[in-house]
Amino acid sequence: MERSVVVGILGLGTVGSGVIQIVNDHQQELMHQVGRPISIGKVLVKDKEKPRTVLIDKEKLTEEPADILHNPDIDVVIEVMGGVQEARDYILQALKNKKHVVTANKDLMALYGAELLKVAADNSCDLFFEASVAGGIPIIRGLTEGLASDRITQMMGIVNGTTNYILTKMDQEGRDYAEVLKEAQELGFAESDPTSDVEGLDAARKMAILATLGFSTDVALEDVVVRGITTVTTEDMEYCRQLGYVLKLIGLAKRQEGRIEITVQPMLLPDNHPLASVDNEYNAVYVYGEAIGETMFYGPGAGSLPTATAIVSDLITVVKNLVLGVNGRSISTPLFAKELKSDEEVEAKYFLRLHVKDETGTFKALTSLFAQEDVSFEKLLQWPLEEEQPAAEVVIITHTTSRAVYERIYNALENMDVVIDIKSTYRVEGGHQ
Ligand code: NAP
Ligand code: HSE
Repeated sequence: MERSVVVGILGLGTVGSGVIQIVNDHQQELMHQVGRPISIGKVLVKDKEKPRTVLIDKEKLTEEPADILHNPDIDVVIEVMGGVQEARDYILQALKNKKHVVTANKDLMALYGAELLKVAADNSCDLFFEASVAGGIPIIRGLTEGLASDRITQMMGIVNGTTNYILTKMDQEGRDYAEVLKEAQELGFAESDPTSDVEGLDAARKMAILATLGFSTDVALEDVVVRGITTVTTEDMEYCRQLGYVLKLIGLAKRQEGRIEITVQPMLLPDNHPLASVDNEYNAVYVYGEAIGETMFYGPGAGSLPTATAIVSDLITVVKNLVLGVNGRSISTPLFAKELKSDEEVEAKYFLRLHVKDETGTFKALTSLFAQEDVSFEKLLQWPLEEEQPAAEVVIITHTTSRAVYERIYNALENMDVVIDIKSTYRVEGGHQ
């Protein structure tokens, strides 16, 4: 029988434990797929004495990275420890020592993906990262293989499980943001520092990876306009529902005439939009291609076994390539130079919730401002508020306008005498436009 393919794992937390469980439980299927046994050699942890949720021979645990990175018996390194600088350093060492690498690390791939892929190719090694975007959903393969023949013009995704879980529970159960965040952490969806989830950065990293692959353009993290969910309220969600929308944290990447825009922000979607019913920790990526039209990839975007499924599938590809002797040939360099849309070119509708003085002339002042910028209202609600001075709550959904014009309107509202407070504003999207 052929020698086992020996795997070293960096990290034994939520995802690392899932990888071990799948490799152990699916030996027969793995053997059938690749024709060679796969075994776990060593597993790097911070603390060998910490209790583990998965059965593992304690002899295999190490606190010494060199036991994996410089171990001649190890063929493939799986990086599931997270973080950026150490992970980058370890992956570079592994590749230079001719070890193939599979990683779930979007922080790293969004920042150093191009560099690492080049080093992998230079060393005839594979570097796969399917689990870095949308957990168990095979979206990277979907884009780079399944839709490789098409020209993709739009990707719209719910790509962060933690924030989708929080928004779903706030919307459907009226629960408190902080309490649901804690629950998402306990369930293993959140990053070790959940700030990157709730501030939208985790989703921005994933959208940078998807846009780079889908648009064949070298998109950087700084190109993504990001806003998180920390200011979203249950009141906003109730108004959205009344108006026929759902509020979700959406990653949007659009390409029109070669110019692209990428953003992550809470957005209103019509309640019949395919992404509107994606709830809890589930993720989905809606992709529009010129030839195929609409497609949608849906599944669990976080969690131990779903994420480990994507990692072990990458591992299978590495071993298949090993058997065929074709490792390191998977890199494809971007085809198009990056051209970002200006604020004048980025078009959308907007939701705006205001507290205004309830007096003669308020509406005239508001409508004059919008008319002056040639922006009309698509929907409008007004309620009296029980406050000391006569006041009203106004909710507006605009017709389509540019980001530049909307920002001018917003700035003017901040300084308007009849406006007491701008409570919230969100972009409104409706699928392919
Ligand atoms: P985690 O539960 O915090 O586990 C991290 C593991 O790495 C722990 O076992 C820890 O050791 C070990 N570790 C961290 N830094 C180390 C260091 N410097 N030296 C040695 N060991 C170190 O993290 P996770 O949720 O599994 O996530 C891992 C990666 O997968 C991250 O890049 C994350 O973004 C990505 N990811 C996670 C999910 C998810 O649903 N959780 C989904 C997709 C992608 P100890 O156990 O000894 O502390
Ligand atoms: N923290 C991430 C999320 C894990 O909630 O989506 C999956 O990448």
